[in-house]
Amino acid sequence: MENKFGMFVHWGFYSLLGIQEQVLARWDMDNQEYESYMHKFNPTEYDPEEWVLLAKKAGMKYICFTAKHHDGFCMWDTKYTDYNIMNTPYKKDVLKMLADACEKHGILLSLYYSNPDWHHENAYNPLSTHQWKCAHPEKADSVKYREFVKNQITELLTNYGKIYTLYWDIPPRYEDKSLNELARKLMPGILINNRGYDPGDFATPEREVPDGKRFPMMTEACQSVGEQSWGYRANEDYYSLRFLMSSIDKIMAMDGSYLLNVGPMANGKIPEEAIAMLEKIGDWYQRMEGTLEDTQADPFPYRLAQADPFIAVKKNGKTYLHFYQGLSSSAVTFFGCPGAPRKVRLMNDKRSLPVRYEKLPTYVEMGRARGPFHSIYSLPVDEYPLEPLVIEITW
Ligand code: GLC
Repeated sequence: MENKFGMFVHWGFYSLLGIQEQVLARWDMDNQEYESYMHKFNPTEYDPEEWVLLAKKAGMKYICFTAKHHDGFCMWDTKYTDYNIMNTPYKKDVLKMLADACEKHGILLSLYYSNPDWHHENAYNPLSTHQWKCAHPEKADSVKYREFVKNQITELLTNYGKIYTLYWDIPPRYEDKSLNELARKLMPGILINNRGYDPGDFATPEREVPDGKRFPMMTEACQSVGEQSWGYRANEDYYSLRFLMSSIDKIMAMDGSYLLNVGPMANGKIPEEAIAMLEKIGDWYQRMEGTLEDTQADPFPYRLAQADPFIAVKKNGKTYLHFYQGLSSSAVTFFGCPGAPRKVRLMNDKRSLPVRYEKLPTYVEMGRARGPFHSIYSLPVDEYPLEPLVIEITW
């Protein structure tokens, strides 16, 4: 995907409970009791421009918003169910407001749409996960339900301007190419994920840092700032910046995109902790940005003296070594160099780094065979204890 960094936003009236976006099923709540919370949802402090500006500040290029999560509640003005934002005390189309803010500030908008629907009377049980709680199992009807989905997708892809990607969630276990065909007809060029009614365009590893050096297909990985939830959780256990930045660097160096999730609170604000994290990640990301977009794999088998994992990519004739877990030493020493580095920079702060060439005997102590080596040295590793380190080599 051309755009590498996006903000995932899980927001619904479940944020009032401050537990998890699937609290209905996970806590086995009574449907009526759960649904009654919609009448308390009044996010008077919602200001989508704040979200959009935060995304921009972090270096993100798009926002993927949960139009409908598993609970079936619709965050837009839909004609096809009353179970929607217009019937809350807030009474405003929060999706429309977000779409306008995105357009105003040049951020792309993507939509998340859950196939499971714990409210719609015809929703069927795909028997795919533990996450299912059917409101009316006796009325389940996949044909009628797909008609409803088509109607809603038509609204979403007609009334909200350009939509960048469509993020189906929870594979419905139905082959029905007409759904994605409809989406493509309504929104030419839209990218569709692989959790829908056919294989789609891109893979979606979730809360996972896959092995390997290059993704075999278009990929957008997703992760939340917190470990327990995607929606707002009052007692969230936040990930470390070190872990998130390392994951972002590795996945993007593998040519994937990265969707980092926040869960706004019931008043419409993104929690302070998440804002602070996005700002810090953004500060690092913006310094790395050019080294993660439009790259090619660098097939040269760099033989390094140290075991720190890294991914080498090429761009405009330069090599970028992404040490996504940082470095254990202030030098990067490698054998069998493909040529002499002409210029080397540490991308974290763009400082030039010295390189030396040494000719050692081919056999040294400890039985390790070594040849002549190049060493990039004086790396300020302890100045960046949290950040992945990225070295640019001009040959
Ligand atoms: C999982 C969860 C869901 C969340 C999604 C994000 O499918 O069930 O709650 O929205 O991941 O990709």
